Amino acid sequence: MPGHKGKAPSNAPDLQGAYAWDITEISGADSLFEASGILRAAEQQTAELYGSGSVCYSAGGSTLCIQAMLAKMKAEHRHVIAARTVHRAFLNACVLLGLEVTWVRPRSGSLIAGQYAAEDFAAALEKTDGAACVYVTSPDYCGNLQDLRGLAAVCRRFGARLLVDNAHGAHLAFLEEKLHPMQCGADFCCDSFHKMLPSLTGAAVLHSAEDCGAEMKQYMQLFGSTSPSYLILQSIEAATEWLRQGGGEEVRHCAERSAVLRASLPQYHFAGNDPLHVTIKADGNALADELRMQGVECEYADSTCLVLLLSPVMEEGDFQRLYTALSRCEPKPPAVPPPLPSAPEQVLSMREAALSAWVSVPVGEAVGRICGMVQVPCPPAVPLIVSGERITEEWVGLMRFYGIGNMICVL
Ligand SMILES: Cc1ncc(COP(=O)(O)O)c(C=O)c1O
Repeated sequence: MPGHKGKAPSNAPDLQGAYAWDITEISGADSLFEASGILRAAEQQTAELYGSGSVCYSAGGSTLCIQAMLAKMKAEHRHVIAARTVHRAFLNACVLLGLEVTWVRPRSGSLIAGQYAAEDFAAALEKTDGAACVYVTSPDYCGNLQDLRGLAAVCRRFGARLLVDNAHGAHLAFLEEKLHPMQCGADFCCDSFHKMLPSLTGAAVLHSAEDCGAEMKQYMQLFGSTSPSYLILQSIEAATEWLRQGGGEEVRHCAERSAVLRASLPQYHFAGNDPLHVTIKADGNALADELRMQGVECEYADSTCLVLLLSPVMEEGDFQRLYTALSRCEPKPPAVPPPLPSAPEQVLSMREAALSAWVSVPVGEAVGRICGMVQVPCPPAVPLIVSGERITEEWVGLMRFYGIGNMICVL
């Protein structure tokens, strides 16, 4: 293996460069889940760069890292308290591991992007018997950063671990103000290198505050393919080296250019506090169409906002093009979402509901039914109702607002 023997098929000569580097666990190439050679050394370089106790590479995105973090929590018999703005990857991991979750709802914002109060996690921890952990997504899809230092202090007070879905924040360690979860006191976090840094799709790392990489690999191999892509792994090592040799400076540059871009477009209302997520409060769908006509593709749009993802590899000309395109658009006011309904009733466990016999129904016919498998469009893949919860009229109203057409319900 591999069957291609380093040669792209004759009908795809453009892929030859990639095929040549697509190796497997041959002698000297190490083995991801039992790394002791070049992969281990590369992981150590990344850990050193971020100041983490250990780093595990993932060719299965942050999804695999989230599965591993939660498997570790299960092994430690910790109850999971989570900020409700979670990606589907978290919910799927809970289903696979049979974890039940205590939800903390946002104080403001929406269920896709919200702001949370550390006291609400403290209150949930106070009510929890036994060991616990807190799981938050920061930054969220719209670039909202949570107060991780405050949360870490709360977690320390209760002996709880802090887990952060930092899929959107691999760049944060290189900003002037150190905002990466590992710099703010988290115990574990995942970074999708492929989202914010120059790495291939699927590239991610799992950071641990302690030196427990070998143990975390055992949890990763529970879920990951036995054939992780070396191309993807090499792209993590390459991005690490790039960051070490001036890429960090490029991240800061990108943040500065982002500030200039925002300041020179006073007709726009920007939201979020991560510089690389440019979130515009406007009718995002209309704005996305206008931008697309000028050759700019956004990351995400709905009727309330539009998200543009900046990258440190963008050059001055790219920023100029973006500025020109945005200055030619005429943003329309954002739609106002219906108020957040009261917390839905949990009728079945997430696992029971997700693994039940199911039927897909138009949302209008879902009232009164129980949500089965979570099915949400990606991006942002943040569900409004999760497996096992009763769907009410108000929640259906919110789903219609976000353009969700069908739901998978328990039969
Ligand atoms: C907040 C968040 N967490 C986790 C993930 C999963 O990351 P990956 O695609 O690297 O597996 C995503 C992907 O979009 C995400 O947006």
